[in-house]
Amino acid sequence: MPRSLIVGSPEHKELFCQFFLDTHVAFDPATMHWPEIDEDSLKRLHSLPMWNEAVATERATARVIQTWVPFETDAVIRQAIALQGYEEARHAAIIEELTTHYGIPVSPAPLPPAPADPEWAFMRLGYSECFDAFFTFALFAIARDSGFFPAVLVEKFEPVMQEEARHILFFANWEAYRQAQRPLWQRPRQTWRGALGRVLQVWQRVQGALDARANKDFTMKGHQSMRMDITPRRFLELCLAENAQRLDRYDARLLRPRLVPTIAQALCKLLP
Ligand SMILES: [Fe+2]
Ligand SMILES: [Fe+2]
Repeated sequence: MPRSLIVGSPEHKELFCQFFLDTHVAFDPATMHWPEIDEDSLKRLHSLPMWNEAVATERATARVIQTWVPFETDAVIRQAIALQGYEEARHAAIIEELTTHYGIPVSPAPLPPAPADPEWAFMRLGYSECFDAFFTFALFAIARDSGFFPAVLVEKFEPVMQEEARHILFFANWEAYRQAQRPLWQRPRQTWRGALGRVLQVWQRVQGALDARANKDFTMKGHQSMRMDITPRRFLELCLAENAQRLDRYDARLLRPRLVPTIAQALCKLLP
């Protein structure tokens, strides 16, 4: 990877903010065209139990980001983060448009209060996006290729997936830039906070998976209903391939999220 760029330099900031602003795609969910779908597909859409949670999560994500915006002291970074908040609110709006069009009733949980520590909330959100996106890209590919949902409908969410790729790329660079900008005496604290954020993220997901196992929740049912005949190693390989496919299209000088892909690569070597 060409590394003529110094992390924490004004050029680095310019690059990761400009990449983010330049690759934003303008569209209005209210004017999206929703295709006619057959009866079976409609039933399948209605039977998915995650609509309330999806809307609530996207809204809460937007709130965390928007709460951090006024605290960001740099004008260009602030502009990029405000745009990310807008995109997350738009994700919620897209799902709401879909559910309205196909007559799926949704009553998402009310928005949680604004976080008390906006910086920590923004950082934890960034780690969680990096973690989730790694797997979500592969699950999206499986859903797309399985024919479980009509292709015309899956297509509508392709821009959302690519926006998540932009978000994690932006966050990986924002975090490294911020760390480099701090005075030396503050850096250990920042490093520990970052490590703690990652560990908490993994812990939360492991707990989620255990709960899912206990409750046989929708993720498991979702896999079954999509007939996910795939070995763990093949799944991780797909995650790595989908991540590369989504992130490789951006400037190679930008830092990439590393933790989860590195663990996945190691696991691929160990798993049968
Ligand atoms: Fe989102
Ligand atoms: Fe996102």
